[in-house]
Amino acid sequence: MLPIANKPMLMYGLDQLRGAGIKEIGVVLGPLQEGILEALGDGSKFGIKVTYLDQPDPKGIAHAVLISKDFLEDEPFAVHLGDNLLKDRIPSLVHEFETSDADATVFVSRVKDPTRFGVVLINDGKILKLVEKPKQYVSDLALAGLYFFRSSIFNAMAKLKPSWRNELEITEAIQNLLDSGGKIAYHEITGWWKDTGRPEDILEANQLVLSDLKPSIKGKVDEGVAIAGNIEIGEGTIVRKGTTLRGPVVIGEKSEIGPETYIGPYTSVGSKVRIARAEIENSIILDGTTIDCRERIVDSIIGKNSQITSNGNHRPTGRRFVVGESTFVSL
Ligand code: G1P
Repeated sequence: MLPIANKPMLMYGLDQLRGAGIKEIGVVLGPLQEGILEALGDGSKFGIKVTYLDQPDPKGIAHAVLISKDFLEDEPFAVHLGDNLLKDRIPSLVHEFETSDADATVFVSRVKDPTRFGVVLINDGKILKLVEKPKQYVSDLALAGLYFFRSSIFNAMAKLKPSWRNELEITEAIQNLLDSGGKIAYHEITGWWKDTGRPEDILEANQLVLSDLKPSIKGKVDEGVAIAGNIEIGEGTIVRKGTTLRGPVVIGEKSEIGPETYIGPYTSVGSKVRIARAEIENSIILDGTTIDCRERIVDSIIGKNSQITSNGNHRPTGRRFVVGESTFVSL
């Protein structure tokens, strides 16, 4: 539910599936399900039908697929990881898969650090091998968190044993499928793709999404506010005198920005946020947070309903935070 450009991360995957005409979506919920049920409900407000599938003891992606077996019946299906964002749209690929004889389609993208991902070795347009988190170099083509399968994947999962990280690995299941003569197609992603596993990835995903921000100002901007670049300001938000906004910047609803505030590129500010006297750049500030300090905050993620204040005695060159919900920081 962590927002990227003020939209919960999970919604990007749902939009992707919905845009591809997939209307029946099973959401696999682990023990940390904060706010997901409230946000999605039965899916009707998004034009989809959401079924919740409980995974109280998460044991990997293949495990998540296994517990979805009854829901999936014998239909072809897509798996989209909740923490993955893809710029490319996939509708034609869904159709291509449905009308093909492939058992699976995987999505791949070149990465600098293949050890963090599942990777595929491809030769002459054919997948030869798939390895999860390779210790030795296999390939720099990583598996993105989007897969198309047919029910044949369930046979390939039957033999799975927990991996070194105690997970049933989907990568291993696809390898089993390949070994038993299954046909695995692949598609190389051309737009950006982000797995948001680490705080720096979340900030990068925020940058990538904000790069395409369309300007829209619904709130009130006082005279004496300098605006440059693409800015989105939600309803009921006030930007006070002496503030500089340099986009891309998105600000939610009912927030209060300024006075004497600078909000710089690639910053997402949620709703009901108050920021005064601070300088903020390349950061994500969640709903209900107050920042009132003469400090420069950069590359930071500040959780919901947090407070950052200062006694104003010093002026450092930049602070970096990853702050959880309802936290109080005094500088
Ligand atoms: C999972 C998959 C991995 C894939 C990655 C994409 O990794 O196991 O093969 O490359 O998602 O985000 P995890 O996020 O569990 O480390």
